[in-house]
Amino acid sequence: MPDFRMIVRQHGGPERIEREEIAPTEPGAGEVLVRQTAIGLNFIDTYHRTGLYPVDLPSGLGTEAAGVVEAIGDGVEDLKVGDRVAYAGGPPGSYATVRTLPAGLLVLLPDDIDDRTAAAAMLKGMTAAYLIGPCAKIEAGQDVLVHAAAGGVGSILVQWLKAIGAIVIAHAGSEGKASIARELGAHHALSCPMEELPKQVRSITGGKGVEVVLDGVGKASWDASVGSIAVRGLFVTYGNASGPVPPIDALSFSRAGSIFVTRPTLAHYTRDATERRRLAGNLFGQIERGAVTIPIGQTFALADAADAHRAIESRSTTGSTLLLP
Ligand SMILES: NC(=O)c1ccc[n+]([C@@H]2O[C@H](COP(=O)([O-])OP(=O)(O)OC[C@H]3O[C@@H](n4cnc5c(N)ncnc54)[C@H](OP(=O)(O)O)[C@@H]3O)[C@@H](O)[C@H]2O)c1
Repeated sequence: MPDFRMIVRQHGGPERIEREEIAPTEPGAGEVLVRQTAIGLNFIDTYHRTGLYPVDLPSGLGTEAAGVVEAIGDGVEDLKVGDRVAYAGGPPGSYATVRTLPAGLLVLLPDDIDDRTAAAAMLKGMTAAYLIGPCAKIEAGQDVLVHAAAGGVGSILVQWLKAIGAIVIAHAGSEGKASIARELGAHHALSCPMEELPKQVRSITGGKGVEVVLDGVGKASWDASVGSIAVRGLFVTYGNASGPVPPIDALSFSRAGSIFVTRPTLAHYTRDATERRRLAGNLFGQIERGAVTIPIGQTFALADAADAHRAIESRSTTGSTLLLP
C-alpha cells in the first residue's frame, strides 16, 4: 500500500480531513525517518483542524506517535536503524504512515513498553507528568480536583495522583465515566452538573475546597473550578475541550481566596531534549512499576481519522484513542 498522511487544506469540521499519498523523505542532517506503527489522537488535533490554534494550511495533523527508525541522517549518534521510538510535540503531522523528524524529538522506547502503549501515553502522560510535577508541584495529602477524569489525560492524572498520595476528586460527564475514574483509583468520583460541583467538593473537603484544580475542559467548567478551590489554592486551566475559557476577571481570583492561576502548555515544559527525556523517563517509570496503566478505549484506522475526531468531540471516547496505519 502506498504511504499516506491525513491533512487539512481548509479549517472546519472533521469532513475537512483528507488523505494524501506521500513518498518517504530522506532524513537530512540531525533527522530520522520513522515508520509509524501507532498514532495517538489528542484533543489538540481538533484545535489545529478548526483553526482554534493557528497552523499554516495545508497542514498535517497530530503530534504523537510511535514507530521504528528506518533511516538516519548525518550527525545522529544516539539512534540507529531498527530502534523503537516515540515522540510527542513538534509541528502537526503525525497522522502519517511514515515521517521524517528531528532526532531530538524522539525518545527511545524501553523493551517493556509496546508501541501502542507508547503512542497512547506520550503526549497525555508527559502532560500528566509536568502538571503534577514542575507545574503544580502536587504533594501527598493534597486534595486535587480532576475534570474529564475518564479521558485521555484525565485517566492518567487520576492514577498518578493516587500513586503519589494525593486525594483525588474526579469529575466526569456521566455516571459511567465516573465509575471508570473510581476504578482507576479516584477517592471520590462525581458526575453532577457543573453548577453543583463546588458544593459537592466543599462537602467532601470539610468546606475548605481543593488545593489544586486540574481543568482541561475549559469554558464549561471555569466557574465550577474557581468555586472549588481552597484559599491560596492553584487553578491549572490546561485545555479547551468545551471551548476557550472566558476573558480573565482578575478580581474574581481575589474573591475566590487569593487563588493562583496558570495556563500551561507542554511545549514550555519540554523546551529541549533533556527536559523531554526527563518527563518521558518519569512517565515510563510510573508505567513500568505498575502505578499507571494506559487505557486504550478505542482504535481507528488512520484513514478514518475524521471518525476519530467526531468521537472525541462528541465526548464518546474514554481513555486514549489510537489511529493505526
Ligand atoms: N496544556 C497542555 O499541555 C495540554 C496537553 C495535552 C492535553 N491538553 C488538553 O487536555 C484536555 C484533554 O485532552 P485529551 O486529549 O485527553 O481529551 P479527552 O479528555 O480524552 O477528551 C475530552 C473530554 O473533555 C470533556 N468535555 C467536557 N465538555 C466537553 C465538550 N463540550 N466537548 C468535548 N469534550 C468535553 C469530555 O469528558 P467528560 O464527558 O467526562 O466531561 C471529553 O471526553 C484537552 O482540553 C486538551 O486540549 C492540554
